[in-house]
Amino acid sequence: MHAREEAREDQSAPESLRHRHLLGLSTYDADEIQLILRTAREFRSVLDRPIRRVPTLRDVAVVNLFFEPSTRTRISFELAEKRLSAETVNFSVSGSSVSKGETLKDTARNIEAMKVDMVVIRHRSPGAAVFLTRCVDAVVINAGDGAHEHPTQALLDLLTLTEIHPSLEGRNISIVGDIAHSRVARSNIYGLQALGAHVTLCAPSTMTPVGIEEMGVRVTDRLDEALEGCDVAMALRVQLERQGAMLFPGVREYHERFGITLEHMERHPDLRIMHPGPVNRGVELAGDVVDHERAVILDQVTNGVAVRMAVLYLLADRGAEPAS
Ligand code: CP
Repeated sequence: MHAREEAREDQSAPESLRHRHLLGLSTYDADEIQLILRTAREFRSVLDRPIRRVPTLRDVAVVNLFFEPSTRTRISFELAEKRLSAETVNFSVSGSSVSKGETLKDTARNIEAMKVDMVVIRHRSPGAAVFLTRCVDAVVINAGDGAHEHPTQALLDLLTLTEIHPSLEGRNISIVGDIAHSRVARSNIYGLQALGAHVTLCAPSTMTPVGIEEMGVRVTDRLDEALEGCDVAMALRVQLERQGAMLFPGVREYHERFGITLEHMERHPDLRIMHPGPVNRGVELAGDVVDHERAVILDQVTNGVAVRMAVLYLLADRGAEPAS
């Protein structure tokens, strides 16, 4: 077995992350990803206990800097921080001095002057999280930067996938939808490939970035082709708000060509469905598919809390046992 494959299968005790920040999965290897997933599984069991709070990050101050709307990521980071007993502060653009013209750098430096240890940032600009590491000494966690990366989403997707298929080596995962505007797709490609999965991307050509094949993925604009032999399909939201102009004739046409329906579920009896949310029902997924017993969309959300606890714990590097 090659060293990379051993790392994919390695179930040994957690060590520590080589990285100081989580800016994206492009630089995280199988060892580090498996460490986060193992730690998340331990926290997942903590979340099922009657007392779900552990003292692991007591006295660690975390600020959640959200410059873009969010439901799942924001709430799950906040819950993860509270479950770890961290001191949590939430920031959003409305009601802050950003609306008076303050820059990201000045906002971050002022917040850090209040002795913050970790910053979770979501921003519309690709590279915002990397930029922040040059402005502050705090540990930075990327909660989604433009169309660049959304690493904690990909990690919770990987955790959910490994609950279905404990090893992802050789598994076929198809990502269907608006690849061009998707930070989720990019982070998932890195994470899935690190764990040995084969990735197929399926989208209209207008939503497929030029040269994406160079990442080692298969590309098709035919949904039937993407679902043939596929273990799990991840549908992506059509991000109308990020598109300058409509990249397909209309929502109905999109659903006809790229929407996953009950008919697809019947034709592929082992197929599982994932979606990072928020879902446009009747666009990327038929309503019946969102609620289907083989859709694991809400499991993804539950796993989001455990993964974010694991990331916060490992990056805070307190040296304590995660489930103490
Ligand atoms: N998946 C995801 O990032 O959802 P939110 O935008 O609600 O955080």
